Amino acid sequence: MKNIAVLTSGGDAPGMNACIRAVVRTAVYHGINVFGVERGYQGLIEGLFEPMDSHSVSNIIQRGGTILKTARCKEFEAPKGRRLAFENLQMKKIDGVVAIGGNGTYAGAAKFYEEFGLPIVGAPGTIDNDLYGTDYTIGYDTAINTALDAIDKIRDTADSFDRTFFVEVMGRDAGFIALDVGLAGGAEAILVPELHTELDALIATLQKGWGRKKGSQLVIVAEGDDAGGVFEVVNKIKEKVQALDPRMVVLGHIQRGGSPTARDRVLASRVGAGAVQALTEGKANVAIGIVNDKINLVSLNDAVNMKKPVNEGLLKLAAILST
Ligand code: F6P
Repeated sequence: MKNIAVLTSGGDAPGMNACIRAVVRTAVYHGINVFGVERGYQGLIEGLFEPMDSHSVSNIIQRGGTILKTARCKEFEAPKGRRLAFENLQMKKIDGVVAIGGNGTYAGAAKFYEEFGLPIVGAPGTIDNDLYGTDYTIGYDTAINTALDAIDKIRDTADSFDRTFFVEVMGRDAGFIALDVGLAGGAEAILVPELHTELDALIATLQKGWGRKKGSQLVIVAEGDDAGGVFEVVNKIKEKVQALDPRMVVLGHIQRGGSPTARDRVLASRVGAGAVQALTEGKANVAIGIVNDKINLVSLNDAVNMKKPVNEGLLKLAAILST
């Protein structure tokens, strides 16, 4: 292996820079040339390659976002786009690619490998934590701590007014963020996409709280919940409980920013280094992760198609502890 490329694609996640740094410095350690590709798969198609060295990744381990920029690239979903990407990689004599991203990034990587057989390793960069084959994804720990900080602040004002707040968190189709911040923030209810939401049961929970003269109540709603986002959920509840005067907050993209936590930097460093190692060992078409504190490889297809379950027991625990 002489030349590799590294890119970040899809939603940025805190810790992506730490992962880029690990990829570059591990490659340099092995005497491999590295090219950074700007804007993910879009950059592969447009030929946005820049040689990188140890110095290019100085002072980035603590920075949020991604120095390589990112994009959600429609063109790469079509055979023509992937062919252009392959031709550009061939022109640069690239023998392996590290693609840092989430589900969409992995799906594109799997398709690309299937068509051209160029070794590609996926590194799990998404705040959603929804990738199979790794206990955690890069950015998840930072995102839940950012969300929790906001939720704690919301609790202060909610408590002062004895108010009920509905707070929407990200996660796409997965409830990992909602579940963890809900439990950690002492939420009275947590709505996750993995379980059907019964609004009558939610109303009963809230009424129990009001009956017990509970001060504030917080409901954490995962954006992908089947009852809808916070506004939809509240509208539906208000049809049944007119007296409800809740406040709604959508935490949104603040969950994606900020300096990565120590856990995210360590995870990013380990999987970044591991991805290069995997390429040098001739691995291809795999996603790297950490399971039970050990580097773990699964096929890109499994990482995309297998479902990582949320721990439903935590929902029960959160309900018990918030009564
Ligand atoms: O996948 C990361 C994520 O932040 C999801 O949680 C969210 O649904 C989505 O990206 C938002 O994407 P965009 O930044 O394109 O609006």
